[in-house]
Amino acid sequence: MAESITITGNTKEEKYASLLPQLKALAEDEAGATAVLGNLMSAIKYGMDFYWVGLYEVKGKALVLGPFQGPVACTRINFGKGVCGYAWQHKKTVVVKDVNSFDGHIACSTETKSEIVVPVFNKNGEVKMVLDIDSEYPAHFDNVDEKWLGEAAKIIEKITTK
Ligand code: SME
Repeated sequence: MAESITITGNTKEEKYASLLPQLKALAEDEAGATAVLGNLMSAIKYGMDFYWVGLYEVKGKALVLGPFQGPVACTRINFGKGVCGYAWQHKKTVVVKDVNSFDGHIACSTETKSEIVVPVFNKNGEVKMVLDIDSEYPAHFDNVDEKWLGEAAKIIEKITTK
């Protein structure tokens, strides 16, 4: 049964705090990773009102587009390339306040002004996916997003190791 997401609170912190348990509930669904990841991307995008939310999966030497919500995006990003490839290479979350000032940023859409990319790790501590979120507003992401989206990445980690 489809469930709708209800976000409460005024601050970003409060909104994420109301979103997180709902992500966990969606992750309990037994329908399989594809269904659940699609729902999680939708919940984050529409819950937090982001421009684009999606996963890129490590396949060999490239990241390949996985479940996402938002406009059509590039399907393949090489190791070390763009913000996504940088997060993969350096195994860390990257917050980009102004995409135009990030050397090598890959512009899937000219609407995107700022971006956050959070790595999702496998059991061996290797990056297996990255969670990429784009905003049409400059400097939209900070350490609050980093914290909560890190929690979302852990949920994704769990689902994809089942
Ligand atoms: N901007 C990203 C590419 C992916 S799209 O934004 C969906 C990057 O530089 O890695």
